[in-house]
Amino acid sequence: MSVAIITGSSRGLGRALAETLLAEGWIVHGFARSVQSLAHPRFQPHVVDVGDEASVHAAVAAVLAAAGRVDLLINNAGAASMNALLLTPAATAAALMRVNYLGAWHCLQAVGKAMVRQRAGLVINLTTVAVPLALSGEAAYVASKAAVEALTKVAAAELQGQGVRVNAVGLGPLDTDLTRAVGAEKLAVLNQRIGRPRGTLLAEAVDFIAQEWRQPTSASGTIRYLGQLT
Ligand SMILES: NC(=O)c1ccc[n+]([C@@H]2O[C@H](COP(=O)([O-])OP(=O)(O)OC[C@H]3O[C@@H](n4cnc5c(N)ncnc54)[C@H](OP(=O)(O)O)[C@@H]3O)[C@@H](O)[C@H]2O)c1
Repeated sequence: MSVAIITGSSRGLGRALAETLLAEGWIVHGFARSVQSLAHPRFQPHVVDVGDEASVHAAVAAVLAAAGRVDLLINNAGAASMNALLLTPAATAAALMRVNYLGAWHCLQAVGKAMVRQRAGLVINLTTVAVPLALSGEAAYVASKAAVEALTKVAAAELQGQGVRVNAVGLGPLDTDLTRAVGAEKLAVLNQRIGRPRGTLLAEAVDFIAQEWRQPTSASGTIRYLGQLT
């Protein structure tokens, strides 16, 4: 049976991804800070702060001790903040870098070493259409996800030839806690800009991401965005 680690599995997109992988027969290890209510014989929750290197490395060691391998890592844990650049406290920018960028960094380092030993593995990093759109009002979030995209490309290049692929998928607005504080009008404008005026259902986003493991290609270092960016 294939083994996946998914971060941010306690709710939103991460939980939907975990449920999908479980339905497809995977063993799933879910990382989040809170207690996770998802109950399934093949689901193992771990209390992990992805921004904390020691916390990540201990959890990945526990996964390897239990499962022996990791075939798929989805760096999904994330946070956002809407604010004008000139009004955003530096502490907010640092907090978003810590979870969005360093969280992916720690998990990629810990799991990547195991994948290189296996000479096989797939890493999927979550990003956003707000990066190519250079979306106003989200400077701290966009910068942290741009860092994730850069990390994706360098990791793919460094791990090329060792059986490990690293790709990123970028989404538009979804109906999760992450977008609760964003006004409906702003979300509608963003959905128009990416050619999806009716928005994107969580299930559609999961299917888009799942192409990475359901229809694997040799592609690595790619960033696929959901929607039409103009
Ligand atoms: N929603 C959107 O519109 C949208 C659009 C584009 C991209 N994305 C990306 O998709 C991903 C998932 O977003 P979402 O909408 O599902 O967000 P969400 O509903 O707010 O869920 C965020 C998840 O991340 C976890 N998390 C946050 N900080 C963490 C930390 N330090 N350590 C471990 N886990 C942490 C949370 O769990 P705990 O609180 O339990 O730790 C939760 O499970 C994010 O990377 C986001 O940037 C979302």
